[in-house]
Amino acid sequence: MFNKNTYIERRKQLAKDVKDGLILILGNTDSAFNYTANIYTFRQDSSFRYFFEYNLADLSGVIDANTGEDYLFGDDVEIDDIIWTGEVASIRERADVIGVKHSGSKQDLKNLLEAAILQGRHIHFLPPYRAENRNTLSSLLHIKKDHIEKFASLELRKAIVKQRSIKSLEEIVEIEKAVDTAYEMHTTMMRMARNLGTYEYQIAGTMEGIALSGGGPVSFPIILTTHGEILHGHDHSLQLREGRMLVSDAGCETPSGYCSDITRTVPCGGKFNQRQKDVYEAVLNANLAAQEAIRPGVEYKQIHLLAVKTLGEGLKSIGLMKGDIDAAVSEGAMGVFMPHGLGHMLGMDVHDMENFDESIVGYDEKTSRSTQFGLKSLRLGRTLEDGMVITNEPGCYFIPALIDKFKSENKFKDFVNYDLLETYKDFGGIRIEDDILVTDKSNRVLGKPIPKTVKEIEEIMS
Ligand code: GLY
Repeated sequence: MFNKNTYIERRKQLAKDVKDGLILILGNTDSAFNYTANIYTFRQDSSFRYFFEYNLADLSGVIDANTGEDYLFGDDVEIDDIIWTGEVASIRERADVIGVKHSGSKQDLKNLLEAAILQGRHIHFLPPYRAENRNTLSSLLHIKKDHIEKFASLELRKAIVKQRSIKSLEEIVEIEKAVDTAYEMHTTMMRMARNLGTYEYQIAGTMEGIALSGGGPVSFPIILTTHGEILHGHDHSLQLREGRMLVSDAGCETPSGYCSDITRTVPCGGKFNQRQKDVYEAVLNANLAAQEAIRPGVEYKQIHLLAVKTLGEGLKSIGLMKGDIDAAVSEGAMGVFMPHGLGHMLGMDVHDMENFDESIVGYDEKTSRSTQFGLKSLRLGRTLEDGMVITNEPGCYFIPALIDKFKSENKFKDFVNYDLLETYKDFGGIRIEDDILVTDKSNRVLGKPIPKTVKEIEEIMS
């Protein structure tokens, strides 16, 4: 954990920004895997950890926005629990460690909220993403389960986004540790992918083991597939075959709860053929153009447009695109090849704070979300600020169903060479992703450099 003053200052700032009412931040509970005592690996809610640190089930925090008083709630364990779990610190002791003034049981939390409701005070809470917390909010606040989202606090979400979007130096150190573990995951993948016949699950399982041995877990289910045209390919059942490329999109969490999210794409067997090399370099140039342009004061939406334009120029030189690439970008033709956004924020969540609603995190009054196919999937569009950590992940995909659809609709025929594109339907996809800190004047790619050029990848795989 960080110094206790970090948590005290974060809570104070939150009270100041929210100004009025009680702020309720629920921690997560354990979830049953197949029977009550056999549970999924526990994952704490990131906002709870940000303000109240503990990576333990069944805790809740409250901050009084009017007075700044804070509370930690949970039940102390009895001997019946201790025999299974060992002795643990009391709630009071835990509250002291993070500088929280008041502590109490779950019943005390109920009583505090009942009194606040009777006084007509505003209770701010976050929209739940788990059924258990939806039930808890419903019963604590007397709101029907289906109506919970309607009452979730916009002020609270905006106040948390304001704090969590800008990473402190101590947070950057943690994210960088997560990227360094991802370095081990991805370079191991590269060495393993040299051997044709290897199953995808052998590589994915080894990578997950590396994440766990770094304190883990993985920051999202590993995407590892020789069908890289499937953007989120979680099936790992195929063998590596000559002529296929392997997309590996994976990251981990540190024990302190900070994430990495890295993608590399390599040729199965270790050598790019000419067709793979040409498309790979078009994607790499898009990644590098974005990397060069990332700095505070620039809208990420503009960086996305620069990346897809660079990709378009690369595809034109291969012959897959034609015509005016600026016009192709503005008319949305790049969605044929890159139907997702350039990146998202990264922090305690791999898609940081997207449980609040992507539009609140990634857009603001100045930058609105596009409705155009491809660009509408950009999760982060707003102006970059010093201290943000973001991903830069352009890709190029040959998705047979999408190609067939656009071709049959005669769409983008001035920009897309469908005759040549037909011959790429067996190609798969490529994505290259780094984690980037926006600095005061420019940016810094976080972590140990992971092989990225054709030469670096062929070298590590040789
Ligand atoms: N790395 C997975 C994603 O960004 O969706």
